[in-house]
Amino acid sequence: MSNTSKNHDAFLCPEMAKHSEEVVRHLSRNDACWCGSGKKYKTCHAAFDDKIKKIALTGKITPDHSILKTPEQVEKIRESCKINVAILDRIEKEIHEGMPTSEIDRIVYDMSIEAGAIPAPLNYEGYPYSVCTSVNEQVCHGFPSDKVILKSGDIVNVDCSTILNGFFSDSSRMFCIGEVSEEKQRLVKITREACYEGLKYAKPWGFLGDVGQAVHDYCYDNGYSIVREIGGHGVGLEFHEDPWVGYHSKKGTEMLLVPGMIFTIEPMVNMGKEDIVTDKSNGWEVSTKDGMPSAQWEIMVLITEDGNEVLCW
Ligand code: MF3
Ligand code: CO
Repeated sequence: MSNTSKNHDAFLCPEMAKHSEEVVRHLSRNDACWCGSGKKYKTCHAAFDDKIKKIALTGKITPDHSILKTPEQVEKIRESCKINVAILDRIEKEIHEGMPTSEIDRIVYDMSIEAGAIPAPLNYEGYPYSVCTSVNEQVCHGFPSDKVILKSGDIVNVDCSTILNGFFSDSSRMFCIGEVSEEKQRLVKITREACYEGLKYAKPWGFLGDVGQAVHDYCYDNGYSIVREIGGHGVGLEFHEDPWVGYHSKKGTEMLLVPGMIFTIEPMVNMGKEDIVTDKSNGWEVSTKDGMPSAQWEIMVLITEDGNEVLCW
């Protein structure tokens, strides 16, 4: 929740306090701004709120204040992101042919604890490991295991998420093990590039659908498909917040982007068809239905006043 509701709840009946939007509507121009800057509302976010309200009146989806991060929160989230990046950098150095994926899990756990952090996946909705390691046709949420030994020709996604002092970070990378076929290397490369195509449209006063369509078109133009059911998400104060970030959306649709939003771009790109299946024995591991390879990269992005900043990758 934003500072607004905290500061103003006491003055409102419970019905009104429920929604931060309601709270803001009752801020008078000389009140302290909801963003916590200490400035008067009229000289701080009043014009910003008016601009959003006008866009909302045209029927567009607009962000609630509860998902906009204050500069202080961004700083805390940034610290969490630094650990996430350091962990993936370490995996990048150490990953090799013959390594069981359980070893990746151990490194992630140890490094997190060492840094005073907690691996976000651990016990998240019952997820039993510290990281997801998804190999070849596995799409996401692969369980690290001492029985899964990385072999030459494998492509593997390592999806790492960290909680530091209650603030969340989330990113993932692909790794190619030993001699990987040209066609799998191309899948990995195009998937990474697709994230950065989407990133070009991650800017204030654009729409999430602009990002989604850019990612979509880049992948489909290259002959690949993208998983429909699983997407990116807001992140920072929680592991998964609004908005949901899909890649089958159209430009000019979905949520308006404004400074202070943080979300991930993380397409799961399939060499074959879009369809996926979930392992019934554990309810987590997702694979392609046709058994063809899948790749994913994930970057975590802050919308700034004049564009964006990639917080972790
Ligand atoms: N890190 C994944 C994401 O990108 C979420 C994994 S959920 C878990 O959103 F429980 F498997 F960790
Ligand atoms: Co994510």
